[in-house]
Amino acid sequence: MATATPLLPSQLLGGSVPQQWQMGLLALLPVLLVSYLLTSRSRNRSRSGKDGAPRLPPGPAQLPILGNLHLLGPLPHKNLRELARRYGPVMQLRLVTVPTVVVSSAEAAREVLKAACYAREQEMDRLVADLDRAAASKAPVVLNDHVFALTDGIIGTVAFGNIYASKQFAHKERFQHVLDDAMDMMASFSAEDFFPNAAGRLADRLTGFLARRERIFNELDVFFEKVIDQHDVLINLCKEHDGTLRFTRDHVKAIVLDTFIGAIDTSSVTILWAMSELMRKPQVLRKAQAEVRAAVGDNKPRVDSEDAAKIPYLKMVVKETLRLHPPATLLVPRETMRDTTISGYDVPANTRVFVNAWAIGRDPASWPAPEEFNPDRFVGSDVDYYGSHFELIPFGAGRRICPGLAMGETNVTFTLANLLYCFDWALPAGMKPEDVSMEETGALTFHRKTPLVVVPSKYQRRAA
Ligand code: HEM
Repeated sequence: MATATPLLPSQLLGGSVPQQWQMGLLALLPVLLVSYLLTSRSRNRSRSGKDGAPRLPPGPAQLPILGNLHLLGPLPHKNLRELARRYGPVMQLRLVTVPTVVVSSAEAAREVLKAACYAREQEMDRLVADLDRAAASKAPVVLNDHVFALTDGIIGTVAFGNIYASKQFAHKERFQHVLDDAMDMMASFSAEDFFPNAAGRLADRLTGFLARRERIFNELDVFFEKVIDQHDVLINLCKEHDGTLRFTRDHVKAIVLDTFIGAIDTSSVTILWAMSELMRKPQVLRKAQAEVRAAVGDNKPRVDSEDAAKIPYLKMVVKETLRLHPPATLLVPRETMRDTTISGYDVPANTRVFVNAWAIGRDPASWPAPEEFNPDRFVGSDVDYYGSHFELIPFGAGRRICPGLAMGETNVTFTLANLLYCFDWALPAGMKPEDVSMEETGALTFHRKTPLVVVPSKYQRRAA
């Protein structure tokens, strides 16, 4: 078996360390020495604890100051593979002062890379427990609140880590409202959009639009500053690129805003539309429920991520929901960069173009009985929403297709599977299926106008 060759100290700053680091390391040696002494003292303290000491992964012996940096070599992946053969698929190194774990097996990689799954499972436990309590009291619940809390928790944890999930965020409760305000504002009329000059600005000042924009901007900014301050990766992104790519705190804030708007609202809205349609069509609800319960069996407290592959009918329910209710009805507006033609018509440069995904999903030219919610229409059909069937484009298509498609699809399917597996659903006393309102409202994304109120009761054969 080949082994990685540790280097002698005299060779340390030779070929083993990537060239671009060598000069920097030499210059930094005094600083490294001090910080090494400090960190090694605190590390020794934490290792000396007897009971309950952490079980750290094994790893090679460390040199003073550099730790294991000298073992990386110019092709770190190769040397690390050799080290993993000796120390195992999860091993610990220290690169100067940075404790580092290297994973080299599919199983370990799965655990590292499945952050989204863990977040989803954790939030789903919380949702099912909340609804179990509600079911015990037989009281109607406003499903909106539960579903928004769930997707907010999943996306927040995936995007911002434990800070968000553990609810240490002072602004968390308020953030959803700030986000709603921001979305309303982005979609409302600004005179400056249409008269990009002093007259437009004056009009916006007089109508109060400017003051509102400033207020919302400041609220969002306070939130984003907090996110950036509490999140190492985002800080490093700023530090690494600031000056070179001009990647600033403002860029990071734009990414954060996109993620929130793109992710939380769309997933929740879709789940609520699906449940609304199912409450209006009890026979479809029963069919989807029977499928999930047969696929998962009776002995589980809830559906887990692996079960998702076994529920094709529920996937049709999701497709049909997104056909009738794409949350971003007009996708994201485009603008022509040069004169062009669309279906034989000339369209000049700098024209804004909206694609009405909502109308396309209800076009009788593509869909028989288009207004009817009928997931069975997808039986034996190869039409999907991944961007190559233009009659179904709830996620857009082409270069700007939703980058969160897979995650959105999983969030929606997995949540619905759990709602249907764990609970039986009824409407509040006196309400008939056709009474469930399908009125919509919104600005950038469109959602139910009224909250969806339903009565859950625990599925009796489900394991406690
Ligand atoms: C059911 C769930 C979702 C639906 C229906 C949806 C739909 C869309 C649509 C229609 C667009 C515009 C695409 C275009 O104009 O061609 C979009 C863009 C985007 N989506 Fe999603 N999305 C969903 C979930 C998510 C999730 C979970 C994330 C993030 C994790 C996300 C992040 C984004 C972002 C960042 C953009 C902007 C891309 C750009 O600026 O070009 N979406 N989404």
